[in-house]
Amino acid sequence: MHTGPLMGSGRTADVYALDGPWVLRRYRDGMDATGELAVMSYLAASGFPVPRIGPPAEDALPTDLVLQRLTGPTLAEALLAGTTTEAEGAELLARLLRELHAIPPRLSQDPEDRILHLDLRPENVILAAEGAMVIDWLTAGEGPPALDRAMSSLILAQVALDPSLPARARVRGLLAALLPAFADDGGVPAEALARATALRADDPQLTADELAVLDEAAELVASLTG
Ligand SMILES: Nc1ncnc2c1ncn2[C@@H]1O[C@H](COP(=O)(O)OP(=O)(O)O)[C@@H](O)[C@H]1O
Ligand SMILES: [Mg+2]
Repeated sequence: MHTGPLMGSGRTADVYALDGPWVLRRYRDGMDATGELAVMSYLAASGFPVPRIGPPAEDALPTDLVLQRLTGPTLAEALLAGTTTEAEGAELLARLLRELHAIPPRLSQDPEDRILHLDLRPENVILAAEGAMVIDWLTAGEGPPALDRAMSSLILAQVALDPSLPARARVRGLLAALLPAFADDGGVPAEALARATALRADDPQLTADELAVLDEAAELVASLTG
């Protein structure tokens, strides 16, 4: 299989076109994607919208992932372009988390635990022709669903408070719509928010700007939760 042009780049990975309906996702620092493969396969088998896992590519590293090629904007791009409203974006994020958290855990013996994405933000949702798909399962784990809702809220609040980001006003609108959309699912309890804040504070991927607004972001989520 021939590795083609770069199709996208996030904070940790580069995604290249492959022949046929596939892309190659490669971590820039050589991290192993094997754990993600197991989670994504399990979720696909449970009917959750994730890209399908493809056959190993010829010139691939053992740490690469071959994934179904998705065509369409990310939710972040659609919000910025105005083709998706903040209310629609919030409903979509809440629905995706609700559906994810309806699936039984894969590993945990605690019946309350669920698979958590822990980085479900607009950049990690692709609005593909076949429907919205969730990508980027690097951070996935298992635990209480409220932690996932807290993480998504906190991540958006950090963006909303970063003065260097032109999209911050729109993201604040998205956050203001997201917290009410979570209400029927159990909302964002204070202990989940505290745990999410501690996880973010320990995340080496966070930039200095993101770290600087973390506490204020937690306060913003708490104030919008009411
Ligand atoms: N299956 C896919 N099909 C098409 N493009 C993709 C696919 N997965 C990822 N991408 C593109 O690559 C970018 C980075 O992918 P992502 O998995 O979010 O990596 P990161 O961990 O670096 O954020 C995405 O924003 C998207 O543009
Ligand atoms: Mg990503």
